[in-house]
Amino acid sequence: MEPLEPLDLRTALRTTGSVRAFTDEAVPLDVVARVLDTARFAPSGGNKQGWRVIVVQDPTVRAQIDALANLGWREYAHMTAAGQRPFAADDTGHWPGPSIDLEQARRTPAPWSFMDGLATVPVLMVVCVDLRVVAAVDVEADRIHIAGGGSIYPFVWNLLLSARAEGLGGVMTTFLVRQEAAAGDLLGLPPYVAIASLVAMGHPVHQPTKLSRKPVAEFATLDHYNGPAVFVTT
Ligand SMILES: Cc1cc2nc3c(=O)[nH]c(=O)nc-3n(C[C@H](O)[C@H](O)[C@H](O)COP(=O)(O)O)c2cc1C
Repeated sequence: MEPLEPLDLRTALRTTGSVRAFTDEAVPLDVVARVLDTARFAPSGGNKQGWRVIVVQDPTVRAQIDALANLGWREYAHMTAAGQRPFAADDTGHWPGPSIDLEQARRTPAPWSFMDGLATVPVLMVVCVDLRVVAAVDVEADRIHIAGGGSIYPFVWNLLLSARAEGLGGVMTTFLVRQEAAAGDLLGLPPYVAIASLVAMGHPVHQPTKLSRKPVAEFATLDHYNGPAVFVTT
């Protein structure tokens, strides 16, 4: 492997894109452990660190996880094809329900090289969270709940940044969440543990560094939601 160029923090934050294609080079478990060892410094509500990570190596379990995640991907793909933003809220903040027959979508393949090869990616990790320690402060909100995720997704993102520091790349996926009950049975998850993400990782075929993101003025305002935009001037 080539020696890694050190990346300054700002550059790393601005250039870490999703990697979904990996070389055949294996990633030893001690490297995975090192990635986890850096990722664990992520913040979480009340510093409760409710993450649990299952590194899936067994080929049989990998194949089952792959099949379950693909059911979620099929729902997502067919909803997208039908013109619906998958699992997003409507103008009231609620999910309006599917615009398609989800059962039929799950039965209908949606070819994609990444999802078709999921069982064979170098590193496959199921990132779970202990719901007994999340700070889900919006539990009573009459809209899609969001705050609890704040106690786990910074950790998932840290995993990907930490992977980059090891010359690895990866992507967080959430398709498996759609089959949480079956995946939970397979992995032995207790009822108070939720699946947050299935992370794929390995040596990138190509490390994307030119990311497409909205400028600050499109999402930051002063004093009010409809206040004047914040512009970057320096
Ligand atoms: C919460 C979350 C869920 C995501 N779920 C998936 C997923 O299920 N499958 C996938 O391929 N990518 C998933 N992604 C990756 C996004 O598609 C990616 O971050 C976004 O498109 C930006 O692309 P880029 O990183 O290549 O710039 C997810 C990202 C986040 C933050």
